[in-house]
Amino acid sequence: MLLRQIKYFQTVVEKGSFTEAAEACYISQSAISQQIQWAKSLLSEIRLQLTKEDIMKNLIIYYSRRGQNYVNGSIKSLAKGNAELITGFIQNAVDADVFEVDTVKPYDKDYMVCIEEAKAELRAKARPELKEMLSDISDYDNIFVVGPNWWGVYPMALYTQLEALDFTGKTVHYVVTHEGSGLGGVPKTMKSACKGAKIGASLAVHGGNAPSSKAQVESWARSAVK
Ligand SMILES: Cc1cc2nc3c(=O)[nH]c(=O)nc-3n(C[C@H](O)[C@H](O)[C@H](O)COP(=O)(O)O)c2cc1C
Repeated sequence: MLLRQIKYFQTVVEKGSFTEAAEACYISQSAISQQIQWAKSLLSEIRLQLTKEDIMKNLIIYYSRRGQNYVNGSIKSLAKGNAELITGFIQNAVDADVFEVDTVKPYDKDYMVCIEEAKAELRAKARPELKEMLSDISDYDNIFVVGPNWWGVYPMALYTQLEALDFTGKTVHYVVTHEGSGLGGVPKTMKSACKGAKIGASLAVHGGNAPSSKAQVESWARSAVK
C-alpha cells in the first residue's frame, strides 16, 4: 500500500506539480494530495515509535581465553571463556555486532605458563600482533569492550586493538571478568586506550558467576545504551 503512495510522491517531485502528477497517475488532484498526506503522517508515526535504542548501533569488542583458567580457587577447563559468555549476553540484550580479538601467537594452553607470558607482556607494555584488526568503527554509537583481568588490566592484545581505533563521538562501556581483582586498573587505562571516547558504564563479573550472570548483564547493557 505504502509503495503506491511513494510512487505518487515521486511523480509529484518529477513533474513539479500536483496537477501533472495526478494526470500521469490517472487519479484526481485531491486524491493524490490526500494519499501523500496519509503516507506522510504514517511515516512520522513510525519515526515517533522508534526509540533511541532502535537507532543506535552497537559493537562488542572482546577477548576471552577458552581452555584452562582459574575459577573459584582451582584450575578448570572452560569450553567457552567467561568474557565470551558475557559477550553473548550483551549481544542478546542490545543487538550488537561482535568482534573477537585473537593473537597471531597463541598463549600457552597451560594456565601457569600463560600467566607468566601475560606478565612478561605487561612488563614490556607489549602490543601483540592480532590475527585480524578492526580499522573503522564509524558506523557504531556504542562500543562494549569485554575482557578478563590479567594482572590488573586487560590482556595486552585488547589494547593493540583499542589503541588502533578512533573513538571520537563514541561511548565505550566495558566489562571485566576476574577472580577477585574486580575492575582493577582497567578504568585508568580506558581513556587513553580509546582515543576520543566518552567512557560510559562499567561492570565487573566474577568468572565463577559468569554463567549465571545473564539477567544482571542484560539489564546492565540495556541501561548502558539508554
Ligand atoms: C594470564 C592471566 C592473568 C590473570 N590475572 C588475574 C588477576 O590479576 N586478577 C584476577 O582477579 N584474575 C586474574 N585472572 C583470572 C581471570 O581474570 C578470570 O579467570 C576471568 O574470568 C577469565 O575470563 P576469560 O575466561 O574470558 O578469559 C587471570 C587469568 C589469566 C589467564
